Amino acid sequence: MGFLGKLFGKSTKQKETVVEENLKIGIVIGSVREGRNGEVVAKWVYDFATKRNDRVEYEIVDLKEYPLALLGANVADNEKHKAEMAAKDWSDKIASFDGYIFITPEYNHAIGGALKNALDYLNPEVNNKVAGLVGYGSLGGARAHENMRLILGELQVADVRTAVTFSLMTDFENMSTFTPADYHADNANQMLDQVIAWARAFKQIR
Ligand SMILES: Cc1cc2nc3c(=O)[nH]c(=O)nc-3n(C[C@H](O)[C@H](O)[C@H](O)COP(=O)(O)O)c2cc1C
Repeated sequence: MGFLGKLFGKSTKQKETVVEENLKIGIVIGSVREGRNGEVVAKWVYDFATKRNDRVEYEIVDLKEYPLALLGANVADNEKHKAEMAAKDWSDKIASFDGYIFITPEYNHAIGGALKNALDYLNPEVNNKVAGLVGYGSLGGARAHENMRLILGELQVADVRTAVTFSLMTDFENMSTFTPADYHADNANQMLDQVIAWARAFKQIR
């Protein structure tokens, strides 16, 4: 064993084989509105991401499947069990990921209330994890993204710089049929590259 080996307790000749597990990344649909555009945008992100050759398991997480009460609100006795189960399922599901892609519509220059309420249920589940942002709105959801970055900072989630911003005017027909321009692929790749790199790094410190 060489000098460095003695110092660090292993042979310097011995090569370490690090087998990296697949990362798990949740693609969270941030709207529960009937007729929402969020679903088709999430599907686009899922299809785009899974075509890349990353060692990542992607999963769409639909807020609609978690009928959360407004945090702290009084819930009728006959609804209590359902609300508690939804909160537990939501917490467990979110805790199972290394990182997230949040699909955020813009409502009144911020994220929607359903997503904010769902985020308010979380804290340790997301600490030291990573997020990428995909938005849509008249300005690509850019103002919702800035709002989201403040919230993620408080939850100790590292949000990556590059976001994907779909315009309701040019990436949708009649603001409802999704026709994304090709150039979004560059931003989506940059965003995913960074989310994956950071997610691997953050896994080491958790
Ligand atoms: C209550 C409400 C407020 C909105 N405010 C904004 C806004 O401030 N800026 C914007 O670009 N779009 C705004 N929109 C348009 C939404 O971004 C658009 O309807 C989007 O499709 C909503 O996401 P969803 O279809 O997934 O629910 C608003 C829509 C609603 C319903």
